[in-house]
Amino acid sequence: MNIVALVGSLRKESYNRKLAEWIKGRYKDKFQLDIADIGALPHYNQDDELNPPAVVAAFKRQVAEADGILIVTPEYNWSVPGVLKNALDWLSRVDKVLVNKPVMIAGVSTGMMGTIRAQLHLRQILQSPGLAAKVLPPAGNEVLVNVASQKFDEAGNLVDAATVEFLDQVIGRFIEWVGR
Ligand SMILES: Cc1cc2nc3c(=O)[nH]c(=O)nc-3n(C[C@H](O)[C@H](O)[C@H](O)COP(=O)(O)O)c2cc1C
Repeated sequence: MNIVALVGSLRKESYNRKLAEWIKGRYKDKFQLDIADIGALPHYNQDDELNPPAVVAAFKRQVAEADGILIVTPEYNWSVPGVLKNALDWLSRVDKVLVNKPVMIAGVSTGMMGTIRAQLHLRQILQSPGLAAKVLPPAGNEVLVNVASQKFDEAGNLVDAATVEFLDQVIGRFIEWVGR
């Protein structure tokens, strides 16, 4: 199984990137996880969508060939970061490679709310006709990792036992969702 991750934070010490890397390691026997370089994408420009830059074409191909997509994102100002929205806007046009693609959402925040507002907004965005992704339903599957400084160790490992146990369950359901 081949999963591609979109990480909504570009910073080197990003907790969301750490979570994506941790997922890649913990479930390596279940799927291969490749983290897409969405920071390398230019700003979406409709003038270029029929003949996009090579980096955009390669990204769309990577998503098209994936069995499923994992989005791991912080919340910026109660919504999704621009870099993630930009990537989704590219995906939403011309060949629309996210349509019916299985997607799982997770997020990490430093505060209490665990990216819930961003995730609700992201679910709405993913329902738009150009994206129309097959998102893992929220009931029982909302991965909202709050107070990040208490959940990861110095090396970037997720060390909160309850969060690890919950992720094991949600990832199991995502694998089933992808296999349907
Ligand atoms: C521009 C910006 C906006 C933010 N807005 C929110 C927000 O709306 N809600 C929230 O819980 N945290 C917010 N935060 C705090 C993030 O949860 C925190 O910076 C987190 O570490 C970002 O994820 P990262 O570690 O993967 O970069 C914001 C941070 C930044 C830099």
